[in-house]
Amino acid sequence: MVRTSTRLQLPLFREPSKEFAPTDRINVEATLRLLLQRDLTFKGEKTDYPAHKIHAFAAKFPPQLPRLFIRELTQPGEYVLDPMSGSGTTLVESILSERNSIGIDLDPLAVMIAHVKTTTLNLPRCVQIGEEVLQEARTELQSFTQSKLDEMYSSQAIAFFDYWFEKHTIQELASLVRAIRRIQDSKINTFLQVVFSSVIITKNGALTRARDLAHSRPHRDLNRKVDQSAFDAFAKRLHFTIESLDSIANISARAEVVRAKVQSLPLQDNSVELIVTSPPYAANAIDYMRGHKFSLIWLGYDPKLLTDIRKSYIGSELRATNLNFPSETANHIIHTLGLKAAQRAGVVAHYYREMETALREMLRVLAHERAAVLVVGSSIIQGIDIKAPTVLSEIAASVGFKVVGVARREILRDARMMPTSHNSTKNGIEARMHEEGVIGLIKPISQR
Ligand SMILES: C[S@@+](CC[C@H](N)C(=O)[O-])C[C@H]1O[C@@H](n2cnc3c(N)ncnc32)[C@H](O)[C@@H]1O
Repeated sequence: MVRTSTRLQLPLFREPSKEFAPTDRINVEATLRLLLQRDLTFKGEKTDYPAHKIHAFAAKFPPQLPRLFIRELTQPGEYVLDPMSGSGTTLVESILSERNSIGIDLDPLAVMIAHVKTTTLNLPRCVQIGEEVLQEARTELQSFTQSKLDEMYSSQAIAFFDYWFEKHTIQELASLVRAIRRIQDSKINTFLQVVFSSVIITKNGALTRARDLAHSRPHRDLNRKVDQSAFDAFAKRLHFTIESLDSIANISARAEVVRAKVQSLPLQDNSVELIVTSPPYAANAIDYMRGHKFSLIWLGYDPKLLTDIRKSYIGSELRATNLNFPSETANHIIHTLGLKAAQRAGVVAHYYREMETALREMLRVLAHERAAVLVVGSSIIQGIDIKAPTVLSEIAASVGFKVVGVARREILRDARMMPTSHNSTKNGIEARMHEEGVIGLIKPISQR
């Protein structure tokens, strides 16, 4: 099983001999300033090379982005943290660059995906067990009855399946889950759960009646005919995943992935040498849980628990009551938005407030004179740009970071896996998603 929140004792992996002589040290601030002046679009570069592509994930960033900052701002053996690690892009890039890394995320599926990408797996054994699971599921299907499904799932879960899946798919998926549940090796079990999930959450959502599932915006479409077999899809994904993981299987740097909140990081003060992260959009513009529950419910998560977890996401629909911020831009936006739509202003204020807490935590765990890089997209709400990159950089300064710069980068929509627009409203992230901010921060020596 995947680890949940405990305070990590660092160093987790570092050997004392790997400390660096002062002469090896990078001038982090000067380097960061130069990096922010580069073209950060990475147009024409391949983004879905091995390991990154084992599972679809909305708004994951192009691997070149974390890789650049990791390679230029840290030394091999140092620690890179992504406190909202999603599908683990930062972690994979850290491993490929021989840095150790720590990923934190609240989303159970994100944690599983990142874990599988970064853990050492016996791949030949994974294929063998995967094929046995498939064989068992095929046998299981022959004696499948509704009462077996009733034994496995709550009535709420079954109602969800009936709404989104066709009968033959339900039977095949339930048979696969039964076979996976028998696998006791926890690493291989998690690996198989991720393969299973990748069969459901795909760009075209082919096994479901949902449109736009991978972008976490499922819409039910009764005209969709699901004729694909879940077993065939599982077989394909099993081999695809193994091939994709092969390239990083023998690298010695490792990652630790923990399910926890960025607002309360299970890490010691001053313990990581770089943070590279990409926080969610405000106001639920990408609703991870809405998409991820399509496999999490199959994997046994209680739908009510998932609803509760969803409320803790940064960018949820909760509303703040304290609307005063240590950022002029934030105060102006909240005031202007409040005149048009008080509730939406509360939701945006909640986002800023949560990010303030997150930034305080990032400052606490970062080593002195080291960098944090935040890749932040904005949203248009009620016709008002909430200017997330500017606001978050002002809040970062107020909590004690030194702001080195805020670069702008064009978003290549497919590369970042952004939602496609079905009805072209001028709200949400649609209107802004051609651009995002890259905020470069340093923890000054004067901080505790
Ligand atoms: C834009 S995604 C990160 C994508 C990632 N950079 C990648 O390449 O896959 C934002 C992530 O923040 C996570 N998140 C949201 N609220 C969180 C919280 N309170 N604590 C930790 N992670 C959170 C979401 O689950 C999501 O995985």
